[in-house]
Amino acid sequence: MEPDWSSLEAAARAVLPRAYAPYSGFPVAAAIQFADGAVLAAVNVENASYPLSLCAERAAVAAGVAGGHGAVTAVLVLTDATEPTPPCGGCRQVLLEHGSADVPVRSLTLQGRAAEHHLGALLPDAFRSGSMEGRNPPPPRDVW
Ligand code: THU
Repeated sequence: MEPDWSSLEAAARAVLPRAYAPYSGFPVAAAIQFADGAVLAAVNVENASYPLSLCAERAAVAAGVAGGHGAVTAVLVLTDATEPTPPCGGCRQVLLEHGSADVPVRSLTLQGRAAEHHLGALLPDAFRSGSMEGRNPPPPRDVW
């Protein structure tokens, strides 16, 4: 399925003002298209206990899993930074768990600057469920 970039951008723009980022002052919105065509958006949700802060990408993945929408097929990240914001390392790992190396990730600024990569380029040689092959008991199945 082709990414619906205009729906992804509209969904991210709609939620960006609701980002809860009082500690970093860096609001982030992520919109994800799933295998069933659903487009869901989420924002970063920070906490006074800083390490508990949740990135927008992971919040969007969680919403898609709860809704039963299937695998991640496209990702858009929107910020008001000068340069397009790439997903953090932890989010790359989580996106790959629910997607695949060929998933496009487009980063966009409110000013219209854009960058696009595939997940496989953002996280090459990744640790995945298959990396546990050979352990006893057998590793968990590859979900997507
Ligand atoms: N953040 C995201 O939500 N996604 C990213 O891809 C990069 C970082 C959030 C985490 C934290 O709330 C704030 O941005 C500053 O790091």
